[in-house]
Amino acid sequence: MQENKKEGRYARIHMQLEALLVKTDDPLARMASVCAVLHHKMDYYFWTGFYLFKSGKLVVGPYQGPVACQELEKDKGVCWAALNKDAPVLVKDVHAFPGHVSCDSRSKSEITLPVYNQEKEVVAIFDVDSDQLDSFSEVDQLALTGIMDLIYKQF
Ligand code: SME
Repeated sequence: MQENKKEGRYARIHMQLEALLVKTDDPLARMASVCAVLHHKMDYYFWTGFYLFKSGKLVVGPYQGPVACQELEKDKGVCWAALNKDAPVLVKDVHAFPGHVSCDSRSKSEITLPVYNQEKEVVAIFDVDSDQLDSFSEVDQLALTGIMDLIYKQF
C-alpha cells in the first residue's frame, strides 16, 4: 500500500477505534477490537495480534489470522526484541532476522510494538505479520503507536 494511502487509512481507523473503545475500559476487550478493525481494514495485514506479558512470559492474547504460537520462547524473535529494547521493531524480511519465530511460513515481514499501561509498564506486545516483504514503514510505526495508546486511554 502506498505511504500516503496508509496515512489516510490509519487516520480513519484511529477515529473509528476511539468511538468504539470508549464503550469499555477493559484492556482485553479493547485489544480484541483493535485487532479486528486493523486486520480487516489493512489488506497487507496477514496476522494481527497481541502477546500478553504475564509472569515474565509472552502468551498469545486477542488476535486475527492463522493459528499462532501460544507462548514465545524467552528472548527469541521479534516480539521479545521489542520487549527487551522497549521500542518498536520493524523487520523487512523475517528470514534475515536472527531467531525469528515463524508461526506460519507465509509471513514475510513484521512489525512489533510495546503496549503500555497507565503506569508506563509494558503489558503486551502488538505484532503484525505481512505475507509480503517490506510492508511496514515509519508510517505504520507512528500510526500504530498512536493506536496502542488507546488501549489504556481514559476517555
Ligand atoms: N514472529 C514472531 C512470533 C509471533 S507470530 O509472528 C504470530 C516473533 O518472532 O516473535
